[in-house]
Amino acid sequence: MRFNTKIIVGISLFLSWFIIGSILVSGFLLNKENTNLEPGSNNLKNLGNSSISNIKLTIAELSTHNTNTNCWIMIRNKLYDVTNFLNKHPGEAKAIIPYCGKDATQAFQTKGSPSGKIHSNNAESLLLSFYIGDLNQEISEQTLQEKLNSSKSINNASGDDEEDEEDDDEEDD
Ligand code: HEM
Repeated sequence: MRFNTKIIVGISLFLSWFIIGSILVSGFLLNKENTNLEPGSNNLKNLGNSSISNIKLTIAELSTHNTNTNCWIMIRNKLYDVTNFLNKHPGEAKAIIPYCGKDATQAFQTKGSPSGKIHSNNAESLLLSFYIGDLNQEISEQTLQEKLNSSKSINNASGDDEEDEEDDDEEDD
């Protein structure tokens, strides 16, 4: 009888740890999938739907997004929709506009000047928010639309935190 109780308690403990373990592992896996920010990672594939037609991110496709109201650029073989960033660019829209629809790797890495200053890490991380996909990657229209919408919804992308600093309340007595 005592022996049976021990077995039951043992099995119950095992089952509860098994359930807790499964919940933790699945939570971890889900979280990992949603927070994967690396461009080129597989965070695009789940959004696609096989019944929807695909778009290949070729140079030809890139070259059709070549205006200041529809501006894609390619940097290190990755495509970005920077349309909504143009007017927030600290180096002004006119620095980027000539590269809309083109490979802007060199320009991004030198800030367009022969002296060759590189952009800051902040600029690199801003870039992530405009990522569409890799060159020659195929993505579904739905995924593309979601990517474009999310890059358009980035409002505070200038990287200038002090921009909206309020007045200093300087009161003279
Ligand atoms: C594609 C061609 C580009 C050119 C020619 C260019 C050029 C410039 C220039 C001339 C400046 C101002 C000078 C300075 O602050 O040192 C600047 C600053 C900046 N740019 Fe660009 N830019 C380009 C693309 C981008 C992109 C795609 C992003 C981000 C999505 C970006 C983010 C920034 C940021 C955050 C700054 C402030 C300084 C820094 O953090 O490095 N730029 N850029």
